[in-house]
Amino acid sequence: MKERYLFDLLAPVKKRPKVTAPKRQIVIQPSESLDKFTALKQEALTCQRCRLRQGATQVVFGVGNPQAVLMMVGEGPGADEDRQGIPFVGRAGQLLDKILAAAEIRREDIYITNVVKCRPPQNRMPQEDEVAACVPFLKRQIELIKPKIIVCLGALATQTIIAPEARVSVVRGRWFERFNARVMATFHPAALLRDVSKKRPVWEDMKKIRDIYRTLI
Ligand code: URA
Repeated sequence: MKERYLFDLLAPVKKRPKVTAPKRQIVIQPSESLDKFTALKQEALTCQRCRLRQGATQVVFGVGNPQAVLMMVGEGPGADEDRQGIPFVGRAGQLLDKILAAAEIRREDIYITNVVKCRPPQNRMPQEDEVAACVPFLKRQIELIKPKIIVCLGALATQTIIAPEARVSVVRGRWFERFNARVMATFHPAALLRDVSKKRPVWEDMKKIRDIYRTLI
């Protein structure tokens, strides 16, 4: 069943895949952290710390449950994300939705964000000073959400969260401990769209993530 999902990963998405399990109501508990999270988002939305804001339509802060057990971190918004203000809604995002569905993880239960919150022009890699300007927002997001699992999608998230010299192809699939969370790197969904051979390793990584996630929810 899950294998069928796996081999369907690169098929065009017509509608958001239906995830049947686990069924769980998200209850967002009022807390001081939530107020701080709202304040942090406000601060990010008016940020002018680097040049990326000038070329972007809007700041793409993050989406999902601010008390999530699992957080996924990508690189930076693309054109679709810049337009909609939501991370991972373009082609790579649709593929991420399929991967999550295959692992029976509900997108609305987790938190999804990027290392940089504004779209780099022509989707170029964010530059060092842009990452340095934006990373305090990511750190605060992690500190306030307190996820138990962080998944680094692609090189920039891996190098920002795991280690500056870490290479995804080397460290993927292994657990690290950062920010009091278990952290795993895997290939970025966009890399999977370019190279189908990455499908199998991503699925292997996702199974490990899913197994731990299930013990924590
Ligand atoms: N790629 C990313 O890294 N993040 C997004 O939000 C979309 C595509």
